[in-house]
Amino acid sequence: MSNNLLKGKRGIISGALDSNSIAWKIAEKASAQGATFTLTNAPIAMRMGEIKKLAEQTKSEIIPADATNVEELTNLFSKSQEVLGGKIDFVLHSIGMSPNIRKNIPYAESNYDFYMKSIDVSALSLHKMLNVAMKMDAMNEWGSVVALSYIAAQRTYPFYGDMADAKAMLESIVRSFGYHYGKARKIRVNSVSQSPTKTTAGSGIKGFEDFFNYAQAVSPLGNASAEACAEYCITLFSDLTKMVTMQNLYHDGGYSTTGISMEVMEKFVSK
Ligand code: NAI
Repeated sequence: MSNNLLKGKRGIISGALDSNSIAWKIAEKASAQGATFTLTNAPIAMRMGEIKKLAEQTKSEIIPADATNVEELTNLFSKSQEVLGGKIDFVLHSIGMSPNIRKNIPYAESNYDFYMKSIDVSALSLHKMLNVAMKMDAMNEWGSVVALSYIAAQRTYPFYGDMADAKAMLESIVRSFGYHYGKARKIRVNSVSQSPTKTTAGSGIKGFEDFFNYAQAVSPLGNASAEACAEYCITLFSDLTKMVTMQNLYHDGGYSTTGISMEVMEKFVSK
C-alpha cells in the first residue's frame, strides 16, 4: 500500500547487498512511496551483481563508493544530485563490517588494525557522509539521515565483538553531528536500533541463529523483520517525523525494555 509519503523526495540508499539486506527492503518501500534515489555500495559488493536487479526494479542508478573514502563519497553526493535533479532529502546509512568478527577473533584479543577498520567502516563512515553532505550543502532543509544500529551499543553481547564499540560510536555521531547539522541546515539525524535480522552481516555473527531465537522469545511482539524496519525508516524519511532528531530509536518488538519473558523463565523453572 502506498500513501506517497516520499513523493518528490530524492535519496541516497547505501548497503543493499542482496534481497535479504535491510537496505534492499528500504529501497523497495521508498520506491513504492514515490521517492527517487541512487543506490550505493562498496565497489567490491558490486561484483556480486545482485544490486543491479534492485536498480532495475526501482529505476535507480548505482553509484559505487567505499564509505570510508571521502573522495568517493564526494562523488556520490555530487553525482546523485546530478542524476536526481536536485538536492537530497534523505540518506540511509546501512553499513557494517568487522574483520575481527569475520575472522572469529575473540573481543579481548582483537587485532587493532582490524579494530580500526571496523570503526572506520561501521561508524566513522557516517561522520564522513555527513561531513561531505554538509560541506557540499547537498541536502534540502528538513532532510533526514537514518543509520542502522544495534542494542550492543548500550549493553554487552559477548559475541558482538568490536562491532559493539563501533555501534556506540555510530550512535554518538548521530547525536553530535545531529546537533551541528540541525543548527546549520535543519537536517535530522537518527539511528534505528533493529532486532537481529537474518542478513549477510547478521548471520556473520557467531551463534546468530540461537541468539535470534532468544530475542524472539524475549520480545513481546517477536523480532522485528527487515520489512518492518523498512516501514519504520520510511516514516523517518517522511515529513511526518520532522521534529525527531539526534535519537537512537529502538525497533525491536519491545526487546530493549523487557527484563525477562515467561518463555525464557520457563527454561529455569524448578520442576
Ligand atoms: P548486509 O550485509 O546486507 O549489509 C551491510 C552492507 O554494508 C553491505 O551491503 C556491505 O556491502 C556494506 N559495506 C561494507 N563495507 C562497506 C564499505 N566500506 N563501504 C560501503 N558499504 C560497505 O546486512 P544488514 O543486516 O542489512 O546490515 C545493514 C545495517 O544494519 C548494518 O549497519 C548492520 O550492523 C545493521 N544491523 C543489522 C542487524 C542484523 O541482525 N542483521 C541488527 C541491527 C542492525
